Parts: sequence; C-alpha cells; structure tokens
Amino acid sequence: MANIMRTLTVNLGARSYPIHLGEALLPRAGDLIKQVGCGEKVGIVTNPKVAELYLATVEASLRRSGFHVATVVLPEGEAHKNLDSLATIYDRLIAERFDRSSCIMALGGGVIGDMAGFAAATFLRGIPYVQVPTTLLAQVDSSVGGKTGVNHREGKNLIGVFYQPRLVIIDVDALSTLPTRELVAGLAEVIKYGVIADPKLFGLLEERLDRVLALDRELLVEVIAASCAIKATVVEQDEREQDYRSVLNFGHTVGHALEALTGYTELLHGEAVAIGMVQAATISARQGLCDEKSLSRISGLIEKAGLPTKVPSNVGLKELVWGMEVDKKSIGGKIKFVLCRGIGATEFQRFSAAEIVAQLAA
Ligand SMILES: NC(=O)c1ccc[n+]([C@@H]2O[C@H](COP(=O)([O-])OP(=O)(O)OC[C@H]3O[C@@H](n4cnc5c(N)ncnc54)[C@H](O)[C@@H]3O)[C@@H](O)[C@H]2O)c1
Ligand SMILES: [Zn+2]
Repeated sequence: MANIMRTLTVNLGARSYPIHLGEALLPRAGDLIKQVGCGEKVGIVTNPKVAELYLATVEASLRRSGFHVATVVLPEGEAHKNLDSLATIYDRLIAERFDRSSCIMALGGGVIGDMAGFAAATFLRGIPYVQVPTTLLAQVDSSVGGKTGVNHREGKNLIGVFYQPRLVIIDVDALSTLPTRELVAGLAEVIKYGVIADPKLFGLLEERLDRVLALDRELLVEVIAASCAIKATVVEQDEREQDYRSVLNFGHTVGHALEALTGYTELLHGEAVAIGMVQAATISARQGLCDEKSLSRISGLIEKAGLPTKVPSNVGLKELVWGMEVDKKSIGGKIKFVLCRGIGATEFQRFSAAEIVAQLAA
C-alpha cells in the first residue's frame, strides 16, 4: 500500500507555505525541500537524541538531492534554548560560508524548532528555513505559525520574532520513538483544537483515543491535519497575535502559571495546559457559556488521555494569582481569558487574576 501523504497550505500571501504530512517523509526530505527552491546548502539544527534516531536518514536524503549539508547538534533541553545555542548555530553557518540562498532545517521538537527558526530569521537578515517537527507538540503547534525565539533567564520566549518557514514536513513515523508522556502532552494541544474550533475532531478523539495512542498512522494523519488546519486558519487571520490568535491560548493562562510555579520541572507544557483547560471550561460553565455535559466531556477526554485535570496540591490559590499576573505582566490588570462555548466555539472575556482564581474556588 502506498504511503499516506497530505498537503495543507498556510495562506499568508507572499509568505504562504505548504505543510506536507504523512508517513515515511523523512527519507524524502531532500526532494521536498528541492521543490521549494532552496540554494545548495542546508544547515540541520538538531539535538543528540533526535540526531541518533533520524539524522542519518535526513542527511542521506539531502545529499541524494544534491545538497551540501552542515549539521549543528545542540545540547538537549529547554535550558539550552538560549543565546549561547544561537551563537553556536551562527558560528557554524559562517564557517560553512552560508549565503542568503542557503537554508536551515529544524529537526526536532519545539525547542529546536524555535531556535532554528530564530537563527534563520536573523542570520544575514533572514534566510529560508524548513520545519521538520518530531514531537507531537511540534507537529500540531510550534512548527506552524512562525513564532520563533529563545528564552532569557528572566522568562520564557522573551527574545523572538515572527518568521514563517518555507515548508513544514511532518512525518508521523517519528512519533514511534517519542516517550509516551511526551506524546500524551502533545495530545493536550490536539484536544485544545477540538474544544476551540472542531467538535468533529473532539468526537473522533473520544471515540478512537486508544488508536491514536497506539499510533495508528492513518488516524494520526487525520488528527494532525485537523489540528494544523485550525492553527493555519487562526494564523491566517491574525499572523502577529494582535487579537484573535490568542484564542490558541485556551487553557494557557492557568497552564503557564502552573508551569512557572512548579519550576518548569514537575509538569510538561501539555500537562499544565490540560489542567488549565479543565479550569477554563469550569469557569466557562460558571459563566453560563459552557453546558455541564460539554464540561464533563472535556474533563473526561483529558482524563482518559492520561493527562492531569487538577491544580497540584502544592500550588495554593494565592500563588496561582501571582503566577498569572507574572506571566501576563499585568499586575492588578485584566487578563484576556479564553472561555469555551461548549465544544467548538470560544469567547474572550477580561478578568483579573484574582477574579479567575475566585471563580475556581467558588
Ligand atoms: N513556536 C511556537 O508557536 C510554539 C508553540 C508551542 C510551544 N513552543 C515551544 O516548544 C517547546 C516545547 O516543544 P516540545 O514539547 O516539542 O519539547 P522538546 O523540543 O524539548 O522535545 C521533547 C523531548 O522529546 C525529545 N524528542 C524529540 N523528538 C523525538 C522523537 N521523535 N523521538 C524521541 N524523542 C524525541 C526531545 O529531545 C526532548 O527530550 C518549548 O520551548 C515551547 O516554548 C513553541
Ligand atoms: Zn501550548
């Protein structure tokens, strides 16, 4: 049977790009990149874990297509999403005499994708780059939409730019080596897309969650395609998050606060967002926007996926207020909070952090 491949487009005028999604795409990376017209040099940015699993395949594919390949293997982990790692990338590109037609490939999860994208945006005032996401979170979220950047010791993603890739290549086969906990954390973002915009996707997850977790290829392609389509539509309407793009922050106001309050070590991003989504849906129900049945379907699916639903017992309500204020940098001010109207629609409301927590405690 032929391998599955689907192509979606992110429509942003001159900055439009395709997302190729399917099976066995890493061995075809060279061909696919050739189609978007990069110069002869490709700089792969990756980390040791991903390199061990997939680098040989991708390098061989690029060389078969006639590219000169330079690979930068950065240390593993969020702690290295910083300016030092960027310097390592720039040093190598300069040593390899990369020019404005050369291309960067991000091969890895969101950490690698954000850094490689930022390097591409800034090297020689911008060279093309290709996202090859290998975690579920990166495949449904960070590789699409052009947010790039690094962390500062004072906070996450404080340094960055919007810069769209030329191409996204999503190979679902890469998920076979992903630790289950990372897979499930990525699933939280997929559930989010269902809640904010796609009742059909939500229903599919309810019905076939076990097959998604068993990495049924056809189903993964369907679920990732639906997720990317929603992200693309939102980004097309509001590329630079002036307004509507913040709908993607459903579950993230409380989620970000929990990540920060637990020192970014206890909870994975998706796990924190899962808790945040249950809290946001609960507030939506209290506001009369979300019916009880939808609320219990949302928390039911999150729980069934193996994600947490409750604020950890070591996080007090006062701390939660503080965490949200710090995240939004709006002490005492109102936070633009995303509520759900049942499953498939949303509404923004402005609350102070204290009001959010008061509704949770009620
Ligand atoms: N740009 C955006 O729009 C956006 C959106 C959401 C998140 N992000 C960023 O993404 C980052 C989180 O991304 P993530 O969840 O992918 O984390 P990650 O990049 O740290 O990857 C998670 C872990 O999986 C490993 N890994 C990656 N692919 C693998 C594979 N196929 N098999 C086995 N192991 C593999 C990684 O080495 C790492 O240990 C954060 O820095 C966050 O700020 C960006
Ligand atoms: Zn997220």
